[in-house]
Amino acid sequence: MFDRSRLEAGLPIRGLGKPLYLFSTIDSTNARALELGQTGAPHGTLVIADEQTAGRGRAGRRWLTPSRSAIALSLLLRWEPPVGGVSGALSGFGALSVAEAVEGLGAQVEIKWPNDVLVAGKKVAGVLVEAQWQGSLIASAVVGIGINVRPGSVPNPDQVGYPAGCLEQAIGRRIDREALILDVVQAAGRWLPLLGSPEMLEGWEARLAFRGMQVSVDDSGVRVRGRFENLHTDGRMVLLTDEGERLIIGPNAADLRPIDR
Ligand code: BTN
Repeated sequence: MFDRSRLEAGLPIRGLGKPLYLFSTIDSTNARALELGQTGAPHGTLVIADEQTAGRGRAGRRWLTPSRSAIALSLLLRWEPPVGGVSGALSGFGALSVAEAVEGLGAQVEIKWPNDVLVAGKKVAGVLVEAQWQGSLIASAVVGIGINVRPGSVPNPDQVGYPAGCLEQAIGRRIDREALILDVVQAAGRWLPLLGSPEMLEGWEARLAFRGMQVSVDDSGVRVRGRFENLHTDGRMVLLTDEGERLIIGPNAADLRPIDR
């Protein structure tokens, strides 16, 4: 379980992490943060669990969070008035926050667009953003972050679409989970005011895996291929097809992978 007093001593950071809901076991921190959001919980509410029994991944997949081996947290963000045009950036925001915190541990990190965090070519963290829309605007969003810290958190190869690893195997030493949570919240507090800014896009782009390479990605059930050029100004991905057409791919796309030519 987590040490509540250590977490409370470090929070809130720039308005994030208060109130703090800490669970030894829960179905999904995202589900709980969404419920809290619906009942009026404030901006910055943070839900953390040692174990999830029904963790949610992107594209309807499950996310494994066994006890004492991972980090599962969800941050509730609110905008008053609601904002437009940040949905793409929000998906990079979580990954960028994790990437910076993990870099602080001495690891070299890549982001597999939109928001998978890779160390040594293996996925060690994932982000699931669930937004509450008001028409075309976002009034609140839950940014859910799952980090594989210890070997017990690494799913079996047949359960994942991309090779998975964990921080302790990649870095080769024991990782302090509470300290890492505080570092992620710290980075999130720094990036949030810059959401969607050129500076944020630059930070995201600088860490992108497979940039400049031939890739394929699943866009609403259709596999599209092309050269991964860069990010559009709103965080969507720009692909240049063999026919010379530029495709702009939205953040709900999944399963980006390089292709051999
Ligand atoms: C992915 O599929 O890569 C995204 C995984 C996101 C998992 C995190 S763990 C904390 C939060 N609660 C959930 O149920 N999911 C997210």
